[in-house]
Amino acid sequence: MRYRLTVIGTGYLGITHAACMAAMGFEVLGLDVDADKIARLNAGELPIHEPGLEPVLRRGLDSGRLRFTTSYEEVAAFGDVHFVCVGTPQKRGEYAADVSYIDGAVESLAPLLDRACLVVGKSTVPVGTAERLADKLVRLSPVGAAAELAWNPEFLREGFAVQDTLHPDRIVLGVRSERAEKVLREVYEPLGDVPIVVSDFATAELVKTAANAFLATKISFINAMAEVCEAAHADVQLLSKALSYDDRIGGRYLNAGLGFGGGCLPKDIRAFMARAGELGADQALTFLREVDAINMRRRARMVDLARELAGGSFHGCTVGVLGAAFKPDSDDIRDSPALGVAVAIGHQGGRVTVYDPIALDNARKAHPELSYGESAVDAVRGAHVVLLLTEWQEFVELDPEQLGGVVAARRIVDGRNCLDAEAWRSAGWHYRALGRP
Ligand code: UDX
Repeated sequence: MRYRLTVIGTGYLGITHAACMAAMGFEVLGLDVDADKIARLNAGELPIHEPGLEPVLRRGLDSGRLRFTTSYEEVAAFGDVHFVCVGTPQKRGEYAADVSYIDGAVESLAPLLDRACLVVGKSTVPVGTAERLADKLVRLSPVGAAAELAWNPEFLREGFAVQDTLHPDRIVLGVRSERAEKVLREVYEPLGDVPIVVSDFATAELVKTAANAFLATKISFINAMAEVCEAAHADVQLLSKALSYDDRIGGRYLNAGLGFGGGCLPKDIRAFMARAGELGADQALTFLREVDAINMRRRARMVDLARELAGGSFHGCTVGVLGAAFKPDSDDIRDSPALGVAVAIGHQGGRVTVYDPIALDNARKAHPELSYGESAVDAVRGAHVVLLLTEWQEFVELDPEQLGGVVAARRIVDGRNCLDAEAWRSAGWHYRALGRP
């Protein structure tokens, strides 16, 4: 049977999942409570920046297999399998995740269900959420246990969302029945030979948080080594390269620099600690507190280095900041290390001008107090210090001579260890980087 699929929540995850499932041949109906977003999506317009996604969205719409709506009634009537992809942000002033959107989605959908179906959570949630939602679903749905829950975490990276969805390295199915497993295996069958791990709910939920905790730990590990390198006058780039040849360690996620940000890793490790605390297992995750602290110290170190280059104070100093997105090829500024540094320097009296190839509009909305340039050259004009904080290819390819012609002083801090230090030094720049002499 060809199931009809719905996707509830059209953020990075939901839009990608909906468009890719349509590309796999399914009829898909996406839902969001934001009518504006739905109108844009139905017009083939992406509300986010994600390379390669717009053509997939357009092809889905043109084929007639993909549509978007704001109506839960329509979704309930349409779907055999409902994927829940709403956000689980960090609670204000707390480490824990706010799961109210996901509860809201189930509360809106369940009372409208009038036949057997599968509701599949994809959002990242505290372990134990699925069990609670499964009970809620059965309680609220008129068809009782014929509306069944499953948990199927998503591992996609922004910037590679389409590729990660169509060519996942694994699929995790948290299920309570053979029927649920069978349905999900059929849904993912068009993806071909992908390893599938079938588990209980709690394990499926934990796979996602554990994966993100591991990645965050790996990044903070190399950034901790960068701190030691700074103290010992060693070079973390060479250290990382030498470590990477050991295939037990591997070279990925071993780039030292300004650390991790974005809508996932920072809030997920905090929510993980909070949940472990509730479960009485907080000791197991106290190391994540250190992972978080190392990560945040990189931002502070960057501000210190910039101040040092500025001559000890930011007063009367112009700072050109290259990068606002939390990583290149994204317009996402959630918990962006780059913007964190820019804002801190502004607070300390520096005149900061920021440029980013794509995240500028989002940055402007979130931080109207900062100045923004129209290009990299524009942002660093008259700067006493230049900071490279997001490793866009456009910045990696900057010509040190050309930039040198517009700045007030040739001083740069490479926050992502992505520039050719020799090239910049030989163009007369005072070049500094995190974790390197
Ligand atoms: C991450 C996970 O990779 C993904 O599996 C999960 O589903 C969501 O969270 P994403 O937030 O898109 O994805 O970003 P990712 O590419 O993992 O990068 C996270 C952060 O780590 C970025 O700020 C990046 O700049 C930083 N990073 C990454 C490093 O500082 N060093 C590295 O070596 C790698």
